[in-house]
Amino acid sequence: MIGRLNHVGIAVPSIEAAKANYRDLYGVSDSAITETRELPAQGVRFAFVNLPNSQIELIEPLGDDAPIVKFLERNPKGGQHHVCFEVADIYAARDEMVRKGATVLNEPRIGAHGTPIIFVHPKNSDGVLVELMETPKGAHP
Ligand code: CO
Repeated sequence: MIGRLNHVGIAVPSIEAAKANYRDLYGVSDSAITETRELPAQGVRFAFVNLPNSQIELIEPLGDDAPIVKFLERNPKGGQHHVCFEVADIYAARDEMVRKGATVLNEPRIGAHGTPIIFVHPKNSDGVLVELMETPKGAHP
């Protein structure tokens, strides 16, 4: 069973512009916005906007063949890309998804929080791409 909503992923053409919007329009303090980092294996640059109860994950393509390039071609101003729920054990979650007939899009791999993740096809979730992420050890004591 899924646990917490960890974050909402938003694909953007410019992380720096998106950060400025969260700061200037929504009043998020600079200290609540992380540095931009790169995840070359997934073809993204990313940063987090920390909210009291969750996070917004801003993702921008890294390289011309990045998976979210096509998403941004369809949504040139950016758009909601995925939601991420926590699970206790990513391999158990993957096996259960497969057993129930869902389409799991990748083998577990290390995501932006440093724990393994999988993606579940939008057709299995009312059109929403779902990321399942193993809860970081000690995250919610
Ligand atoms: Co994510």
